[in-house]
Amino acid sequence: MQKFFDDTPSGSSIIAREDVLLPLYQPDELRYRGNELQVMADAVKPLLRKRECMNLLIHGKSGTGKTSCAKAIMKQLSEHSPVVLPVYANCWESPTRAAVFGRIIEAMQLPVPRRGLAADELFDRVLQYVKNYSRPVLLVLDELDGLEEQELLYSVARANERPGILFGITGITNNPAFLAKLDPRVRSSLRFSELRFSEYSEEQLFWILKDRATAGLAPGTWDEKLLTKIARGVDDGSARIALEKLWKAARHAEDLARPKITLQDLADSEAENEAAVRPGVALSETESKIVEHLRNGSRTTDELYDLLKSGKTKRMFMNYLARLEEKKIIQMDAQPETEASGRFGPKLCRLCPKL
Ligand SMILES: Nc1ncnc2c1ncn2[C@@H]1O[C@H](COP(=O)(O)OP(=O)(O)O)[C@@H](O)[C@H]1O
Ligand SMILES: [Mg+2]
Repeated sequence: MQKFFDDTPSGSSIIAREDVLLPLYQPDELRYRGNELQVMADAVKPLLRKRECMNLLIHGKSGTGKTSCAKAIMKQLSEHSPVVLPVYANCWESPTRAAVFGRIIEAMQLPVPRRGLAADELFDRVLQYVKNYSRPVLLVLDELDGLEEQELLYSVARANERPGILFGITGITNNPAFLAKLDPRVRSSLRFSELRFSEYSEEQLFWILKDRATAGLAPGTWDEKLLTKIARGVDDGSARIALEKLWKAARHAEDLARPKITLQDLADSEAENEAAVRPGVALSETESKIVEHLRNGSRTTDELYDLLKSGKTKRMFMNYLARLEEKKIIQMDAQPETEASGRFGPKLCRLCPKL
């Protein structure tokens, strides 16, 4: 039979290290974020001396380096000293108190009984550990908008008042109005300081792209003209979008076995991307239905959920909306909270203008 898998390269080798071009890659150098990293480090430093630290609320648009900076600080902190335990939780993935406490327990490498514990029991174990080992915890809560239970923040703030218990919180959100939406009790006990991440300029995007192209692409397969063009075409200062454009153009050139990424590869891969977000082409069934509903006008997240839930949990449904927002097909705006339930109010969803 014909061999379908062999070792001969199928095209040219433009991408030398694909991981370097992907969003999860953690670069050694985070350009233009020296000040932000300094503020973040200064905020958590007192934990090393087992003193109360400054809680930070980081906000800024998607792709401005918030997650990368938080991870870089966590890494340096744990390399510097074993005193503080840094714990990362993405609130879209861990939206409840129990889920976040689960992340902390994992980081503490504590055994958890299989029957599953209630949130309060999990928290008791966390507190025992902090006290017994006299080890402060730096809790990094990414995508705070996804947190369903604000009580989490309150529990942590309250626990900090007990002797021998020390938590620091770094919260991250895309939503500049997040702090205003927090329950006043939580706000006053956590006393967040805010840190804003601004959008990158074209020139900054160019240099971020250049670092990555140098590390991820084979020499001679790209030039600065390409990077300038990409940086110019990103309208919201997002390094994530700029890097994705570079990666897609590189893949396109590689598929066509070109020796070098051309401006045409960039244009073609961008056009393919546009086509892919057109409803009915590459959207899942639920995503297409959401888009169809929004063609008739804006709806709140709750209204959409009621119309389209059919067996899905609210969480699963919110993930569909988050993905559409990420792909820039819909926009979601925070609404004033309707009741003081401790939850964030529903958001208003509408289609992005280009659709
Ligand atoms: N200052 C920077 N220098 C180098 N790469 C960056 C920088 N800021 C962001 N990036 C890259 O852009 C992508 C998105 O960054 P991320 O930290 O996930 O942004 P955010 O959390 O604000 O959405 C990642 O691949 C990251 O490595
Ligand atoms: Mg992020």
